[in-house]
Amino acid sequence: MTTPQHFSRPPAHAATPRATALHGPKFQHNPGQLYRDMRRQHGPVAPVLLDGDIPAWLVLGYRELLHVTGSPQLYARDPRRWNAWDRIPPDWPLLPLFAYQPSMLFAEGQEHRRRAGAVSDALSQIDPFELRLDCERIADRLIDTFAGTGEADLTAQYAAPIPLLAVAKTCGMSDAGATTLVRDMGIAFDGGPDALEAFARVRGAVAQLVDSRRAHPGPDVTSRLLGHPAALTNDEIVNDIVVVMNAGQLPTSAWIGNTVRLMLTDDRFALALSGGRNSIGEALNEVLWEDTPTQNMAGRFATRDTSLGGQRIRAGDLLILGLAAANADAGIRQNPCADSVGNRAHMSFSHGEHRCVYPAPELAEIIARTAVEVLLDRLPDLTLAVSPDALVWRPSVWMRGLSALPVQFTPTSAPSPASTEL
Ligand code: HEM
Repeated sequence: MTTPQHFSRPPAHAATPRATALHGPKFQHNPGQLYRDMRRQHGPVAPVLLDGDIPAWLVLGYRELLHVTGSPQLYARDPRRWNAWDRIPPDWPLLPLFAYQPSMLFAEGQEHRRRAGAVSDALSQIDPFELRLDCERIADRLIDTFAGTGEADLTAQYAAPIPLLAVAKTCGMSDAGATTLVRDMGIAFDGGPDALEAFARVRGAVAQLVDSRRAHPGPDVTSRLLGHPAALTNDEIVNDIVVVMNAGQLPTSAWIGNTVRLMLTDDRFALALSGGRNSIGEALNEVLWEDTPTQNMAGRFATRDTSLGGQRIRAGDLLILGLAAANADAGIRQNPCADSVGNRAHMSFSHGEHRCVYPAPELAEIIARTAVEVLLDRLPDLTLAVSPDALVWRPSVWMRGLSALPVQFTPTSAPSPASTEL
């Protein structure tokens, strides 16, 4: 995009009293039912209101989502195109999701291909066997911190730190640097009073990493970006590494937690808990269909007036990608209970130019699968410490993950051989 456009006309549905509030406790408890209700009421594209009653469209239909994500000229990524900026207060809680940053996430066209191409090339050179070994070591080390106690919150003590520790390592960060990064990223995600300062520290740590790799290149993602023919500037590399770390962290940790929850609560996966590994892959895949981590993604912006799923869309309107709703679309799921096995046609990594960058989905799967495998190997009699109904989901419309995953098991005292090597 050369000149960002600002449109003052509100979306066509701005005055519609039936728009669904895309926030509040209903999304925490049973978002699937809400998507079905919206679909029945409005069809595949529903009018919604974000926090502060800011209007947007939620794309619920699988075909419509394919069309939106596959048509970047019509539905573009740069949030400066949004026609609602004049209604957004400076303290709007969703600003971190929508405020423009000069990163690959919001780049369009040739500029996006240049940035995403470089990141993709750099990630492609990660050795999957090495990543797996690193993940095993990280998982063992974390389990050692609670194995002797017989109980843990697997969200905070296990699923949350693993992905960023693994991704930071592939970028060339030391274990100590990665541990501090995990702490600061956690504070930044929580959005409390220290969030901005914590995010500045994350950016500072990545900038330092880039400087040190420029002086001493190594076999890591950062050094590959520095040497890439796309000739990225220092700032571009820092911004895009922060995107990679951010984008990898929450969804992969929710993928791990949601998979462990499924295996602990569903009889079909009980065998895996006593040592069998076969059904871990099936559980990981089923989670991507039934409880996908990125349930809604913000978003795309219409570049001109158009229509979609029977709704009139105006230039500058915001469309939220309803990935979880599209996965449940009855048009593609004739038999929801049976048809997720071996089927990877879900929209959980999105689609089109801005889909989760290749090969991040494969890397995320290595991280998630290793985390679940090591956990079940080390703590084979793991059970939930509360009833399944008492588990609490994060109060987020965007990310589907558990606030806590309390478990119990027989305490073990011997640290793993792998973790003592660190
Ligand atoms: C190692 C872990 C991961 C890394 C490094 C990673 C990296 C990325 C990056 C760099 C982007 C931005 C792509 C762009 O704008 O061009 C992205 C987007 C995305 N990723 Fe991932 N990701 C990871 C794991 C996951 C997981 C586990 C999920 C969900 C199951 C996921 C779902 C998505 C989605 C939905 C988008 C947005 C696509 C869109 O706007 O259309 N990612 N990811």
